[in-house]
Amino acid sequence: MAIRNIIKDGDEILHKKSRPVEQFDEKLGQLLDDMRDTMKDAEGAGLAAVQVGILRRVCVIDVGDGVIELVNPQIVEISGEEEDLEGCLSFPGVWGLVTRPETVKVMAKNRHGNNIMVKGTGLKARALCHEIDHMNGVVFKSFISRFLNEKEVERYNRRKKKGGK
Ligand code: CO
Repeated sequence: MAIRNIIKDGDEILHKKSRPVEQFDEKLGQLLDDMRDTMKDAEGAGLAAVQVGILRRVCVIDVGDGVIELVNPQIVEISGEEEDLEGCLSFPGVWGLVTRPETVKVMAKNRHGNNIMVKGTGLKARALCHEIDHMNGVVFKSFISRFLNEKEVERYNRRKKKGGK
């Protein structure tokens, strides 16, 4: 268990494509354990391996209902559209509105190399798309339709909690 350094905006590695995992070994398990710890420590909803300097198609996601580990994920189904607030642990202080599919279905492997399927709606669909983008060297900033400053983020979250939008 260890907390790894999160790579921040400005580092070229964030724009590089990650390679698929071929070996489901102890090293992969270690990476996933460290990524869980790192995500939790940073209070993030997701983290891709490239963000800790590893160009492999691996991510962890936690939108409040437990940690999901995905290896070599692929989106196999999308539906709907939703605009919501999005941020990224590699872009501290950057927040903006991004349109994402409302629902996505993802096929992936777990840490043991077994096939898994994850379906996500809303925030989970958003996190799945965001992390898979990271694996293709794509960062969320390029999709932001409107940037929000700190005050606007607070207002947005308050309004959302009340059920409005
Ligand atoms: Co991110």
